[in-house]
Amino acid sequence: MQELRATLDHHARRYYDYDDPEIPDADYDRLLAELRHLEDAHPDLAEPDSPTRRVGGIPNPIFAPVVHTTPMMSLHNAFDLVELKAWEERVQRRLGGRVVGGYTGEPKFDGLAISVRYQQGRMVQAATRGDGRIGEDVTGNVATISDIPHRFGPDAPATLEVRGEVYLSLPAFEALNQRRQARAEKPYVNPRNAAAGSLRQKDPAVTAERGLSFWCYQLGAVSGELRLTSHIETLRWLASLGFPVNEHAVRLDDLAAVEAYVVDFEARRHDFDYELDGVVVKVDDVDLQAELGADAKAPRWAIAYKLPPEERTTTLLDIEVSIGPSGRATPFARLAPVFVGGVTVTTATLHNEDQVAAKDVRPGDTVIVRRAGDVIPEVVGPVSANRPDGSVRWVFPRCCPVCDEELRRDEGAAATFCVNFYCPRQVRGRIEHFASRMAMDIEFLGEKNIDRFVTEGLLRDVADLYRLDFDAIAALEGFGDVSVANLRSAIEASRSRPLNRLLFGLRIPEIGQANARLLASSFGTMDRIIDADEAELADVDGFGPVIAAAVGTWFGDRRARRLIDRLRAAGLRMEADSVAVEEPGAPQTLAGKAVVVTGTLAGFSRQEARSAVVARGGKSPGSVSSRTFALIAGTDPGAAKVNKAAEAGVPVIDESGFGQLLETGELPG
Ligand code: IVH
Repeated sequence: MQELRATLDHHARRYYDYDDPEIPDADYDRLLAELRHLEDAHPDLAEPDSPTRRVGGIPNPIFAPVVHTTPMMSLHNAFDLVELKAWEERVQRRLGGRVVGGYTGEPKFDGLAISVRYQQGRMVQAATRGDGRIGEDVTGNVATISDIPHRFGPDAPATLEVRGEVYLSLPAFEALNQRRQARAEKPYVNPRNAAAGSLRQKDPAVTAERGLSFWCYQLGAVSGELRLTSHIETLRWLASLGFPVNEHAVRLDDLAAVEAYVVDFEARRHDFDYELDGVVVKVDDVDLQAELGADAKAPRWAIAYKLPPEERTTTLLDIEVSIGPSGRATPFARLAPVFVGGVTVTTATLHNEDQVAAKDVRPGDTVIVRRAGDVIPEVVGPVSANRPDGSVRWVFPRCCPVCDEELRRDEGAAATFCVNFYCPRQVRGRIEHFASRMAMDIEFLGEKNIDRFVTEGLLRDVADLYRLDFDAIAALEGFGDVSVANLRSAIEASRSRPLNRLLFGLRIPEIGQANARLLASSFGTMDRIIDADEAELADVDGFGPVIAAAVGTWFGDRRARRLIDRLRAAGLRMEADSVAVEEPGAPQTLAGKAVVVTGTLAGFSRQEARSAVVARGGKSPGSVSSRTFALIAGTDPGAAKVNKAAEAGVPVIDESGFGQLLETGELPG
């Protein structure tokens, strides 16, 4: 018990005094529950200043002390619905079997409690909770929080203390940490600590920059007339005075309604732009609250239902590197299994070399693991106190764990890559991408099959798909006539996908779906893309020198050209949709000419106009240059294009002239 008390004292100091905890709240709660359990079993060994009886932290001497005439209490916790039910039964027993008659449910905001004192409706003082009896004077800092009214009236009671939670919204937290990182300051580990650190500043100007917010949820000391009979009525009254009351604070008629509310919040805990760590349930009737009273630490009329923790500690077994489909080498943590945020986590990404270095996590460390919503699990950092002796910093491996070739990180880049173009993981990655729905959409060729075919040596690149040995596949375990026939016809069907799909499927750097469409519509055929120089590529609407260089380099590689030749030989379509579908065999009147279109035309959409140019052998880039043959200007033409045309001496023609241009390839006279 002494050991537990010392441990809890240590962590309370880290949490309250340094705003820099070493363990997640849930671990603290579990240690506290263990101590409480022991103290209950051995009342003779209980101590008056045990952490089980303490509220909050010890006030910091840089702030003037403030005595809370009405103490600021803590809350007892329930960790599941059984404990919630047990609380109701205790309440009812205390009330001699009377039915409670109604509760309120509110989110349990994860910030820090303050009490704001108003005299005749004017803010005179604001204090932190401190140890519950003596808090810290943070009036100047609280005055900078725009959510909190400085005055209200006119029928304000002589004295009124409004209590609630100061918190940092998630966007404000992200922004703050970004600013801190930019200044090479240590980021806050979570919004709660950031809020506490921001409020307990010597200089209110610093607090003001942080963007703190406030929810009120309780009254403290009150003098003068106030006729409020229920908690929900109190909240409504506070809202009417201009205090921020959370919209999810509601009245709940019975425990069944409370349970439904709790379950609902559990599902929605990530739908808000602030953190909550539970739900607070309060007996609604103010007279019943008074009758129930409080114990040394918390009121009996309220309970905090804690949501399951989303941060836990576990052992970092090892750091390994996984190779992605593009060859990217990503370090990840192998963890001793830990149940966090509703799932058992055994691995968590560490993103890249710099992240591992910044967190300085090492195999053997005890680490904090966080999981928020459907977000992938994250290693927050090590618990430095638990680091085993003799541990050394982790170094990024030099060889690919898949193919054993070199791993390289380019200067200035964050990511590390396997340099081997034929690394089996990359081979599989390229084929997976090629076959994916948005690319060539080859059904029945899932990751598993690709993996098998690559392993069996049946598949080395995407062109191999079109000469697959189906007899060999039929001989593989798990394949029958039907599955082979399905696969064969799915691959067959992919031969006629339009050019933009094929371009996207080839995984050309910078060429996602949208850029693939632009490339296809601007040039019309694979050959014209191959023949285009970088200046022509850069002329494509929305492209610039970077994309043009990436595309030019890719097509300039002999391996790429050979691959395209093999795909062409396999009968894949090498044309854009518009060319073949709309105007087969249109006369090539505009061969080699660039015609730019701007403004609205009556007879064509912009895309149709550009396709018409491409169908006649021309190009239709998105911007005007000295190489442009003509600019077609409809109504409301783009000023930049018209100006550029004037500057570069490019003829500007209207829609009627465009018709003639398409037909003859000549500029109208
Ligand atoms: S009522 C006497 N309502 O939780 C009861 N507290 O673990 C006073 N908290 O110190 C608390 N949301 O900082 C109440 N809706 C809510 C709350 C809330 C967060 C905090 C508060 C309190 C702590 C106890």
